Amino acid sequence: MRLTYLVLLGSALAARPFLSEPDTGIEDVLGDTPNGTLANLTQLVGLPDFQWAARRYLPPANYTYYINGVAGEWSARNNLEVYYRYTWRPRQLVDITRIPDTLQTTFLGYNFSVPFYISPCAKAFDGNKDGELGLVKGAAKNDVLYISSSYSSLTVEEIFGAAEQNQTMFRQIYLNGNITYDEALIRRVEKAGAKALIWTVDSNAGSNRQRADRYGVGSQSLFSDKAQLFTWDYYEKLRSLTQLPIALKGIQSVQTIREAAEHKVPAVIVSNHGGRSLDGAPSPLEVLLEIHEESPELVNQIDIWADGGVRYGGDILKLLALGAKGVGIGRPFMFGNMYGTDGVDRVIQILKKELITDAGNVGIPTLQDISPDYVSAVTYPLTPAPPPAQLLVQLVSK
Ligand SMILES: Cc1cc2nc3c(=O)[nH]c(=O)nc-3n(C[C@H](O)[C@H](O)[C@H](O)COP(=O)(O)O)c2cc1C
Ligand SMILES: *[C@@H]1O[C@H](CO)[C@@H](O)[C@H](O)[C@H]1NC(C)=O
Ligand SMILES: *[C@@H]1O[C@H](CO)[C@@H](O)[C@H](O)[C@H]1NC(C)=O
Ligand SMILES: *[C@@H]1O[C@H](CO)[C@@H](O)[C@H](O)[C@H]1NC(C)=O
Ligand SMILES: *[C@@H]1O[C@H](CO)[C@@H](O)[C@H](O)[C@H]1NC(C)=O
Ligand SMILES: *[C@@H]1O[C@H](CO)[C@@H](O)[C@H](O)[C@H]1NC(C)=O
Ligand SMILES: *[C@@H]1O[C@H](CO)[C@@H](O)[C@H](O)[C@H]1NC(C)=O
Repeated sequence: MRLTYLVLLGSALAARPFLSEPDTGIEDVLGDTPNGTLANLTQLVGLPDFQWAARRYLPPANYTYYINGVAGEWSARNNLEVYYRYTWRPRQLVDITRIPDTLQTTFLGYNFSVPFYISPCAKAFDGNKDGELGLVKGAAKNDVLYISSSYSSLTVEEIFGAAEQNQTMFRQIYLNGNITYDEALIRRVEKAGAKALIWTVDSNAGSNRQRADRYGVGSQSLFSDKAQLFTWDYYEKLRSLTQLPIALKGIQSVQTIREAAEHKVPAVIVSNHGGRSLDGAPSPLEVLLEIHEESPELVNQIDIWADGGVRYGGDILKLLALGAKGVGIGRPFMFGNMYGTDGVDRVIQILKKELITDAGNVGIPTLQDISPDYVSAVTYPLTPAPPPAQLLVQLVSK
């Protein structure tokens, strides 16, 4: 019996190795790209290709910093896989000609061309000597929102100084817990020109990043030894310091979203930090499903954005279907930025085209018509997710 269990688990694992880069033949076409060089940008046809290119091009420590997740990386993997456990419920014979003209949206009152945006990721120098410049310029060129990281390689002044005159950008912040210090930080960000603050609250206790630790590129040491004290009181204090809207990033439960709505937070970002903070934290899709089941009215009370594992236009559409108003993408933009503005532009073009195509095949007249009705409530576990290694040991020893 025990043995059967082990064999079954073994074959389940063998049957479905986890592939963060699905095999769509890139190796056949670009496989002779020499290590340490960038693959031909115009031959990258999907977002996973940018990860392939990064693995070829970047030194292992740089690549590892970008790719790693926390602990056993179960949340990081689940973020990618969860989209395929929920199928579409497409409709046919629908007039889909208007979709391309309905991608525009607003974030906190500012207009943007698409409902997806560039999530804040630290350390652009790890992929490009120009740091965040390609992200700023690629965003400007396409009227896409860029939220720069508190731990950007360039200074906040350099990033906002590179913006086009009519470009709106937001700024992610980590705080210290010393209100004097934090007020100074907020003043600096205001002065640089950010139109909103995005306070990340999903890693107040730090994180244990094993893959990255091997290369000495693990989580930044805690910004503050007072971060554990961050509560709603601190949020209210911050709000009294600035006119800028303060959104919260890294929300992972219906309960906290409900509290955020009560506190009149303008927007929350449902995110598990790309699986880099708490292993076992739910994917954005799972949280949105829970909102839909428990408190569907919440999506009308507070703007909900979401990020994590988005690699295709269809992933964006699924999060929008379940109530997200905006969808963030992290790693693929950092890999796009290896090529500077052109790479960031290409990631945007690919996503935009996929979003239009998938919306058409799902069969909605306009992007605003997407709703939970188009996502199947039936889940299709491809095979059971591989259990953590400890569980295997427990099963065997029982
Ligand atoms: C290399 C890297 C650095 C990141 N740095 C930050 C950061 O400084 N602040 C933050 O709020 N989130 C940070 N994140 C999380 C992203 O904002 C976003 O939540 C995540 O990347 C989304 O998942 P995806 O990479 O699968 O798209 C980082 C993510 C990565 C991959
Ligand atoms: C690149 O490096 C990998 C890992 O060392 C190796 O397997 C592969 O053959 C190399 N490819 C080329 C084109 O040199
Ligand atoms: C890059 O790809 C494009 C499109 O396939 C091709 O026209 C071009 O010649 C390629 N460039 C190089 C340097 O291989
Ligand atoms: C935003 O878009 C709306 C609708 O297209 C338009 O009426 C409004 O003027 C735009 N706002 C700005 C600041 O461009
Ligand atoms: C790797 O990261 C280091 C540190 O940020 C940086 O100096 C170097 O240029 C990066 N390498 C590449 C190829 O981007
Ligand atoms: C900013 O100006 C450029 C050039 O005129 C234009 O293409 C772009 O759409 C404008 N963006 C916004 C957000 O108004
Ligand atoms: C708080 O920050 C201010 C400004 O950086 C500093 O002068 C002060 O010493 C800090 N207070 C404490 C208790 O650390």
